[in-house]
Amino acid sequence: MAPALVLRAYDPADAAAVRRICFDTALFGQPLRPVFDDEALVAEALEGYYLRYEPELTFLADAAGTLAGYVSGCADTRLFHRRYARGIAPRLLGLFLLHGHWLRPAVWALLLASARAARTWRDVHGVLARDYPAHAHLNLAAAWRRQGIGAQLFDRLLATLRARDIRGLHISAASAGGQAFFARAGFQRLAEYPAPAILGQPPHTVHVMGLKL
Ligand SMILES: CC(C)(COP(=O)(O)OP(=O)(O)OC[C@H]1O[C@@H](n2cnc3c(N)ncnc32)[C@H](O)[C@@H]1OP(=O)(O)O)[C@@H](O)C(=O)NCCC(=O)NCCS
Repeated sequence: MAPALVLRAYDPADAAAVRRICFDTALFGQPLRPVFDDEALVAEALEGYYLRYEPELTFLADAAGTLAGYVSGCADTRLFHRRYARGIAPRLLGLFLLHGHWLRPAVWALLLASARAARTWRDVHGVLARDYPAHAHLNLAAAWRRQGIGAQLFDRLLATLRARDIRGLHISAASAGGQAFFARAGFQRLAEYPAPAILGQPPHTVHVMGLKL
């Protein structure tokens, strides 16, 4: 029998499990490890902000002690950019140097592609943040997908944002599954841009999608 699933608030003791799922879904919904194996750096880049600054907007799907997935939100994307530059970027630089990546040309190429995409993301999101000030990420471990868990987790975040009178929410989805999920959830496509080029991967397009709350 499948274990009962509980949706619950994030606790700092969950950090390692959340970061693992983040890393395991970072390559367009698939594990990033074959391309870049630094889980600490990638998870800090993609998830560090939410766990450190707005942990009350992360919710988990817990299957009898095993983490099936999480959703993480940010209520104010403009504030996110300021905090990211001051609080997360220096940590990333520290990990980059400490882990010796500056000696590896392939990592430089990946980082430059990510930095270019991050700049585009920042420009697009700065404009969107007026009407859709919140943003979110939703990731499930592979074994738990297509069972309605993502929809339940996302509803939990939406209810919390609505209770805080936030007027809109946007997401960026590069995976086909993510794009289909958010279209089904009523999101409108607002912008798109090329995902960072990753060696050996076909090109992907990031869809920026918004929902008025
Ligand atoms: C995308 C993701 C979050 C969806 O969560 P989920 O629990 O698998 O989705 P649900 O079962 O709640 O699906 C709800 C609806 O979304 C749509 N949907 C979800 N995944 C889909 C997929 N892979 N392909 C097409 N439609 C999909 C369907 O309409 C589905 O309803 P249905 O099953 O009745 O047809 C999850 O599959 C995932 O974590 N994928 C990898 C990481 C990722 O891509 N994250 C999104 C980036 S922010």
